[in-house]
Amino acid sequence: SRESEFVVVANRLPVDRVAGGNGWRRSPGGLVSAIAPVMRSRQGTWVGWSGAAGEDLDPFVEDGMRLVPVRQSAEDVELYYEGFSNATLWPLYHDVIAPPVYDRAMWDAYVRVNERFAAAAAEVAAEGAVVWVQDYQLQLVPAMLRALRPDLKIGFFLHIPFPPPELFYQLPWRRKILEGLLGADLVGFQLPGAAANFVRLCRRLLDARTVKQDVEWEGRRVRARAFPISVDVGELRELISRQEVRWRADEIRADLGGGIVLLGVDRLDYTKGITQRLQAFGELFADRELKPGEAVFAQIATPSRERVEQYQLLRDQIEQQVGRINGEHAELGSPVIHYLHTSYDREELAALFLAADVMVVTPLRDGMNLVAKEYVACREDLRGVLVLSEFAGAAPELRRGAFLVNPYDIDGLKETLLTAIRCEPAEQARRMRVLRKRVLEHDVDRWAADFLDELEDPAAQPAG
Ligand code: G6P
Repeated sequence: SRESEFVVVANRLPVDRVAGGNGWRRSPGGLVSAIAPVMRSRQGTWVGWSGAAGEDLDPFVEDGMRLVPVRQSAEDVELYYEGFSNATLWPLYHDVIAPPVYDRAMWDAYVRVNERFAAAAAEVAAEGAVVWVQDYQLQLVPAMLRALRPDLKIGFFLHIPFPPPELFYQLPWRRKILEGLLGADLVGFQLPGAAANFVRLCRRLLDARTVKQDVEWEGRRVRARAFPISVDVGELRELISRQEVRWRADEIRADLGGGIVLLGVDRLDYTKGITQRLQAFGELFADRELKPGEAVFAQIATPSRERVEQYQLLRDQIEQQVGRINGEHAELGSPVIHYLHTSYDREELAALFLAADVMVVTPLRDGMNLVAKEYVACREDLRGVLVLSEFAGAAPELRRGAFLVNPYDIDGLKETLLTAIRCEPAEQARRMRVLRKRVLEHDVDRWAADFLDELEDPAAQPAG
């Protein structure tokens, strides 16, 4: 029934089916942590998939949010989710780090499933409601939804990078994607460069008239803007205030043997640069710059998209690499790398952040990377350093306090890791203050408010 004034549409619901059971847990990835707070404060409805193939569920309430499940058959999961979303768009939008698959059956499934999401959103949105569509899996939804419900205010936000024209041109369905996005009133990106790429593509491929960052399309004016996403500072502050979390952090440090702790926390994804960072760390032992026991690397790799071939290949590669590095450099009782292929709850992650001397965030390409900002938000004690890739969307905001690296440059990475390991407490505090100023002043509430204020701006009238 059409009763929600605020609707979020995302491929995934904020909760995910626990395999085999009938319980729920928080879905993986940064999108959910960013959208959940605004959903609660606006009492919105979230339209998305449960994470299980072929499951037919009625709307329900979980964690204070009204959830409307959209079904995906086993074939949809294979062709739309694993296929077009994660074997075509994901690599194409991340600098083609892995070769994108261009397959017509996958495209057809993408269209079909986007139609289903648009229809589900059209069902629940009240007259004139705000509908906020999320991410690369649903780029056709804005135009499909506008055709069904021209009364709505439609926003779209892309959580991942938007590629330059030279790469986007590869996509056989490139015009259709742009036309889909242009159904929105406001198209949001992480960085200004991505918004500029989009506007340039609309001009070149659709022959659209553009004025600065606005695109004129079908008698409307579509705004393209950058809104760098952020973290829920209040939630993290509450977590690290808990005595159990602090005890757990001490316990982790003790379990890791008392040396300098380097930490990586990533979905197991080829965009994250995990093999490059482990290689650099391992070479520091081969070069005798580090001794076992002096420094240890804890790499948490959250299982992700496990049926997509590139992800299976990467997992094998990382596991072989960890085995080799430990085989060559560990001593009994002192592995140099602790590798965990698992997902952790928020308390355990907060404890890990508090236990880490060096947070290593070195993606080859990343829309933003919220782990970097979460680490900063947790370090009220002004200890710890952040090693951050130039290719993370967070780099422009955090460049002054972090140690920036080019993750492809293994020698540069080794040098930076050593500098970070040896960074004195006073310098740590100086850098952490700079980082915290930025993150605390631009948290996720501000991000959502900036986007929604722009979307609802009465001054932004349709072009006549
Ligand atoms: C990234 C994407 C999200 C996605 C998440 C987890 O953060 O931007 O859209 O939900 O990864 O990936 P998954 O495929 O498990 O939903």
